[in-house]
Amino acid sequence: MSDENNSTLWTTITRLPENAWRSVFRNPLPSSDLGRASTSFTNFFLHLHPVKTHRHSLKATYTFGLGLIAFFLFLILAVTGVLLMFYYVPSTTQAYDRMLDLRGTVAFGIFLRNMHRWAAHGMVAVVFLHMCRVFLTGSYKPPREFNWVLGIVLLLLTFFSSFTGYLLPWDQLAFWAITVGTSIAGYAPLLGKEMRFLLLGDSNVGQEALLRFYVLHVAVLPAALSLLVAIHFWRIRKDGGLSRPPEEDELGTPQLQPVPMPLGADVAAATAKASVIAIPAIEKRRYGIQGLVRGPFTKVGNVPDRSVFSWPNLFTAELLIFVLTVAGVLVVSLFFNAPLEEPVNVMHPPNPAKAPWYFLGLQEMVSYSAFWGGIGIPTIEVLILLLVPYLDRKQIGVGRWFARERLLANSLFMTFVIVNLILMVIGTFFRGPNWEFVSPW
Ligand code: HEM
Repeated sequence: MSDENNSTLWTTITRLPENAWRSVFRNPLPSSDLGRASTSFTNFFLHLHPVKTHRHSLKATYTFGLGLIAFFLFLILAVTGVLLMFYYVPSTTQAYDRMLDLRGTVAFGIFLRNMHRWAAHGMVAVVFLHMCRVFLTGSYKPPREFNWVLGIVLLLLTFFSSFTGYLLPWDQLAFWAITVGTSIAGYAPLLGKEMRFLLLGDSNVGQEALLRFYVLHVAVLPAALSLLVAIHFWRIRKDGGLSRPPEEDELGTPQLQPVPMPLGADVAAATAKASVIAIPAIEKRRYGIQGLVRGPFTKVGNVPDRSVFSWPNLFTAELLIFVLTVAGVLVVSLFFNAPLEEPVNVMHPPNPAKAPWYFLGLQEMVSYSAFWGGIGIPTIEVLILLLVPYLDRKQIGVGRWFARERLLANSLFMTFVIVNLILMVIGTFFRGPNWEFVSPW
């Protein structure tokens, strides 16, 4: 081989790492505004974010990062869930033994199961708290109505995912909690019995139910959640980022007003409308391409505004939340083991047989009236929650916690939350054998 060929080969080999790196990451770490914008555009994960984020959205006390924590818990559940699938067998004769294997013989098996269990409980609680934050800051109002509705569906899917996972260890706790839970479905009028049969694949909880719950838990529900979470995030962008009070956009400098525009609306007409609302003193150029979607126009040039580059401001905040969420799950999993009771004994129900904690409010209501507690009231509650953004449309108090102008709406919502919490506490701590009232002390 000639010297020239040798040196070309050598250069190719020595540059290989750098070339491989650059083929994935096109930009060096950004040091200019252009670099920061370009980094956000060219990285798949960062590309899901806006190039700039409003300062108000970065305030820790506005969102408390709850939506992101819910998302990261979902990711932890997906990863630990796939690892658990390598060991688990959805069979009534093997499931419990596999749980014992995880505890006794599989390296880190118990830790894996703990992480999965505590992340699942955490996700139920955090998604609920996130809904409270969205309500109490009036963030469901137009144009975010549909994202609220998606959120309610996500909440129900989260409950259902956790509930279907409950049966899989096939111990006494699992078996009787699901027996109680699914018997509630049987109280629905007209199709109650059929719905219960469809869910269980039999008239009782047994092998068919275990298989159905498994398929729902590992395939159907995670796929539905992933799709809806993706649409949820996409809508946040299309709705102009997170909600904020209108005064956050006022800077003493003339601003273009956001033009709410439904998808498919006449862009030319809306642009004309925008220029009517705009205060004519603006000299800097603004690109209106985002007029196709709702929300503020992207500003180009040095027009002052209250947004900052997402790189590094938003991304470091997200990374911090990710690290804290993972650390939280790891620490809890280190100190507390997921419960595993005796293997299923269909002849000996525990007394009382209790549903998972997030359904204990429901079980408490069922003890007064099977139909109203188990079906009637929960259905009305969900319907009212779904309708909230279509009933309360006035743009007042948006983007602020407990705004005075929203005293009535917030009081009604807090009453709903507190009543449900009280029922849950009664069901958890104050109910003993035969669902009789007992003192926990
Ligand atoms: C799997 C469950 C969910 C995930 C992963 C999720 C994720 C997120 C994230 C990351 C955000 C932006 C940051 C934040 O607000 O913390 C957000 C915003 C939002 N979420 Fe969720 N969410 C979920 C469930 C819900 C529920 C149950 C509701 C309400 C019923 C809801 C309604 C909304 C709305 C309306 C916004 C926009 C809020 C605003 O503009 O201020 N989401 N969600």
